[in-house]
Amino acid sequence: MLWACCYCIAEFLLHPVMVFLYFTLLQYPFNAEPPRSALISSYVTPVDLFYKRNHGPIPVVDDIERYSVLIRGLIDNPRDLFMRDIKMLPKYNVTATLQCAGNRRTAMSKVKTVKGVGWDVSAIGNGVWGGAKLADVLELVGISKLTSTTKSGGKHVEFVSIDKCKEENGGPYKASIPLSQATNPEADVLVAYEMNGEPLNRDHGYPLRVVVPGVIGARSVKWLDCINIIAEESQGFFMQKDYKMFPPSVNWDNINWSTRRPQMDFPVQSAICSLEDVTAIKPGKVKVSGYAASGGGRGIDRVDVSVDGGKTWVEASRYQKPGVQYISDDMNSDKWAWVLFDVTVDAPQSTEIVVKAVDSAANVQPENVQEIWNLRGILNTSWHRVQVRVGHSNM
Ligand SMILES: *[C@@H]1O[C@H](CO)[C@@H](O)[C@H](O)[C@H]1NC(C)=O
Ligand SMILES: *[C@@H]1O[C@H](CO)[C@@H](O)[C@H](O)[C@H]1NC(C)=O
Ligand SMILES: *[C@@H]1O[C@H](CO)[C@@H](O)[C@H](O)[C@H]1NC(C)=O
Repeated sequence: MLWACCYCIAEFLLHPVMVFLYFTLLQYPFNAEPPRSALISSYVTPVDLFYKRNHGPIPVVDDIERYSVLIRGLIDNPRDLFMRDIKMLPKYNVTATLQCAGNRRTAMSKVKTVKGVGWDVSAIGNGVWGGAKLADVLELVGISKLTSTTKSGGKHVEFVSIDKCKEENGGPYKASIPLSQATNPEADVLVAYEMNGEPLNRDHGYPLRVVVPGVIGARSVKWLDCINIIAEESQGFFMQKDYKMFPPSVNWDNINWSTRRPQMDFPVQSAICSLEDVTAIKPGKVKVSGYAASGGGRGIDRVDVSVDGGKTWVEASRYQKPGVQYISDDMNSDKWAWVLFDVTVDAPQSTEIVVKAVDSAANVQPENVQEIWNLRGILNTSWHRVQVRVGHSNM
């Protein structure tokens, strides 16, 4: 069945009508994010509120008995793995935050035009992913744990999706990670079949998806079709011609894609979700809450909130699981997951409220959008600012 790798067991369907709760950004492909306040109403994001980022129509796999993932490339024994093979491996739950690299792109595009789907602050979500570790899956084809190069020179693991997209000229979506990360059990890369204790649904990658914790969402390939062990990183569009961070001087006329590496870890990020861009309030106390997250398994050491546009700051309290004190990089903290924060401040008059986070490597968010503007509009991590307008009438 080796030839069968990319044969199409999917029929393509447009997503049904948009879910009422969502802002729909583009209906085709289907991209959606929840309202800010709903996003932080729980530590684990309910499936229905999890952002959806797709590059093509959502595939439907309806013959689960025949569905398999072919592992091939620079290995001795290519093999087709069926659901039962994956489910026979030890099952792990990994709590991990996935974030689209374009999160918060809307505001970035106010500075200069960028290409991409416009997002508010909610192209992020925290899930409990259940499945087999990729390191165990690769052992089934003879690649041992902690391998960085196979005998035949494989150094990267490419995930190929069932879904097809126009950026690949109708070919499948694909992305890769280094073999050393894929075979490291501590990196917690999963071949997942569950989300929040339920079977994955179609929107989130049924029947199998990859979850690469701490890395931009684009590498967590959904609707997994095959896995290629390759010598160089994936040549796919979304690895080579997208999701790279360029300096502000690079524009569409002088860009040379091969001068930058594909973005992997996401940088330290935070956003206020209890307030909209402009919110009318009564004078007095205002609750400021939201999320903070960093990539690469780094924890959040501090979340600072300012009510005077960034001149002075107070520290917000941080939490993950109820009743468990959050300490960054502690054994009892979820290292791949966001932290929620919360602080009540005084806002006697109209002002700008700002948040920034510091991660456990002391990385801090940049103050201005100009410092990180890039033509693809990815990784907008500048201080998140919202306005409160204090009024005295009924609002
Ligand atoms: C990023 O987005 C926020 C709103 O989400 C905005 O306030 C900020 O200016 C933007 N910064 C960049 C770098 O685009
Ligand atoms: C994984 O998480 C789900 C839902 O959170 C839970 O029902 C299940 O018992 C957990 N399984 C393991 C192996 O911890
Ligand atoms: C683009 O960058 C690569 C790597 O630095 C270089 O080899 C190549 O010549 C450059 N291409 C152009 C058109 O400048």
